[in-house]
Parts: sequence; C-alpha cells; structure tokens
Amino acid sequence: MVRAMQIDGKPWRTIWRNQSGGIGIIDQTRLPHAFETLTLRTLDDAAVAIRTMQVRGAPLIGAAAAYGLALGLTEDATDLGLERAHRRLIETRPTAVNLRWALGRVVDAVCALPPEVRVATAFAEADALAEEDVAINAAIGRFGAELIKEIAGRKPGQVVNILTHCNAGWLATVDWGTATAPIYQAFAAGIPLHVFVDETRPRNQGAFLTAWELGRAGVPHTVIADNAGGHFMQHGMVDLAIVGTDRTTRTGDVCNKIGTYLKALAANDCGVPFYVALPSSTIDWTLTDGRDIPIEERSGAEVTHIAGRTKDGAIATVQLTPDGSKVANPGFDVTPARLVTGLITERGIAPATEQGLLRLFPERARP
Ligand code: MRU
Repeated sequence: MVRAMQIDGKPWRTIWRNQSGGIGIIDQTRLPHAFETLTLRTLDDAAVAIRTMQVRGAPLIGAAAAYGLALGLTEDATDLGLERAHRRLIETRPTAVNLRWALGRVVDAVCALPPEVRVATAFAEADALAEEDVAINAAIGRFGAELIKEIAGRKPGQVVNILTHCNAGWLATVDWGTATAPIYQAFAAGIPLHVFVDETRPRNQGAFLTAWELGRAGVPHTVIADNAGGHFMQHGMVDLAIVGTDRTTRTGDVCNKIGTYLKALAANDCGVPFYVALPSSTIDWTLTDGRDIPIEERSGAEVTHIAGRTKDGAIATVQLTPDGSKVANPGFDVTPARLVTGLITERGIAPATEQGLLRLFPERARP
C-alpha cells in the first residue's frame, strides 16, 4: 500500500518502539526547522512530551499516553503505580478525548492482572491501539478520497482546492492523519489537488507542521494567514474544507483548534462543504452539547511571542505585542453541528447528528 510519509526513502510513523525498549517520537516542537527524534524512557518523559507538545494531535496524544502508561508500569506495576501513572498522564492536556480513551483501554487491559504481567500486556495494548490508528486513518482516507474524487469529476481537468486548519495530518496521528488521509489518498490516485493551509496562530501548526508534511509528500499547497480563508471561499477558490477534531459530541458538535469555528461560518456562508475527519475514538459519547467540552487555556506567551528561523539558521523568539498588554489564549473552539456538512469516520461518512453517528455506530445507542 502507498504510505503517507517517507523520510530518507523509508516509510515512517510518528511513534514507534525502539531497540532499547524506549518509545521513539519526532520532536514536533522543532519542526519545520529541524527534524529530530527523541526516546521516551519513563512515565515522566511521556507526560512531558504530551504537555509540551513534542507530540500533539488527538490520536497521537492517545497513542503516546498508552505507551506512557506502559512505561509507568515498568517503574511501578502495583495498583497504586497504575493509578499514579494514569493521574499524571490524564492531567497533561484537557481537550482531546483520545487521551482519556487510550488510558482507559490500557487500564482495562491490565487492571485485573497480577502486577508481574502488567507491563507486557500494557505494551501489547499500546501497540494494538497504534496499529488500529493506522488502519482507521487509512479507512478515513478511503471514504474522504471519494468526496474529493466526486468534486474532481464535476470539474474535469481542474484542480480541486481543499482548505484545512491546524495539523490534523500525519504528524497528529500514528500514520496518515485524519484530515490529510483523504488528501494523501486522492493525491496518490492522481487527482489534481491543492491545499490551502491556514497558518493556525498562535502555535502555527498549519504553517509549521501541515506545510512541512504536505511538502515532504509532494502535495501542492499554499500557506495562508488565518484571516484569509473566508476571502478565498468568497472567490470560489475553495471546493471543500476538511479539518480534524479533538473531541466531537454524540450530537456532532466539533471541538477543534481555535479558529475552526470561523472557517465553518465562512464555509456555511459561501456554500463550501465543511467536513470533519475523525476516528471514533475522538467521539465523546457521554456529551450531547459541545459547550460542555473543556477548552484548554494555554500560555499567553504563545500569543505575545513567535519563534522562527533567522537567515543564519538559528531559531529565535521575538516579542509581538507591547509590554503589559493582556492576552487570552483558548486553544480550541466548538463548531456547532449545524455548520458541519459531514463527519468522515472509519465506518463511512455520517451527517453531524446523533442519528447519523448511531447509524454507523449502533453499539453506542443508549439502552
Ligand atoms: O493543540 P494540538 O496541536 O494538539 O491540536 C491539534 C488539533 O486541533 C487537530 O486538529 C486535532 O487534534 C485532530 S488531529 C487528527
């Protein structure tokens, strides 16, 4: 099968078990200026990697947390050790529900077992979860690529223009990405396409990460200021928007990186289809109202300062705002279901409604 990403001519994933028993990751805080890998060896390493966003993106946060819990059990496999490791990891980031889901899976797999077999079982469960993420994203890619092909069929010989926000890409998952999986698969199938990449202030996951990975994969793209998306939509230059999500309610309200809501409003006004690509692990089946999703409030320094590469190759941070100005920095916002054209899941595309989701996931119906 075609793989989403090759580095030095070899297929890569974003998280892996390495020879020495540690967990390999790409340090995403260094991209796009440097490609560096790190090894997580302890519970603390994993918690720090998630909290500082060396790994980020809902599905990858889940996979890293699952491995983090396994690392924690190597330090203390008792019930108390399990509880402590769970608490340490669950506190790292509040919004992406994949964190809670992945930790729950590993806890369920090991809690009834005697301590001496917990470590091996936890690593096996984390491996299984990572493998499933790859298969799920590939399936999302197949369903989403059909949408892109349909649009291509309506404008023969012309490029399909897709807008995305933040990084719901290869880097945000174990492989493929969610929003990017349809793009990679349609591109591999020879559909002429181009991606508008929102820069995604304040952390610039679009400009730094999505642009980096699309560039490596050879996908034509243009980075745009966050405020430009509506303009391009008004001028008929966007055929389709696809974004990811950190938590989606059972009723289809979509929480994603701050600024997603404004793109959905503009898409709605301009008649641009607005799709959300998500594995079912990102659905919070306990919630019916997006306003109940906890929104991460991040450091004001992300707004007041920006880091970039200078001409001589050094990475420098500069201040943007006047001394003393107050800042607010919510990391995510909620797009109400009514603005979402459809949810691209591993089982197919659902309308963003409880009924629509339950048609694909009937096992989630309430008794
Ligand atoms: O703060 P981040 O970089 O972890 O936020 C990432 C996003 O908002 C993604 O769109 C979301 O996690 C989906 S990733 C497939």
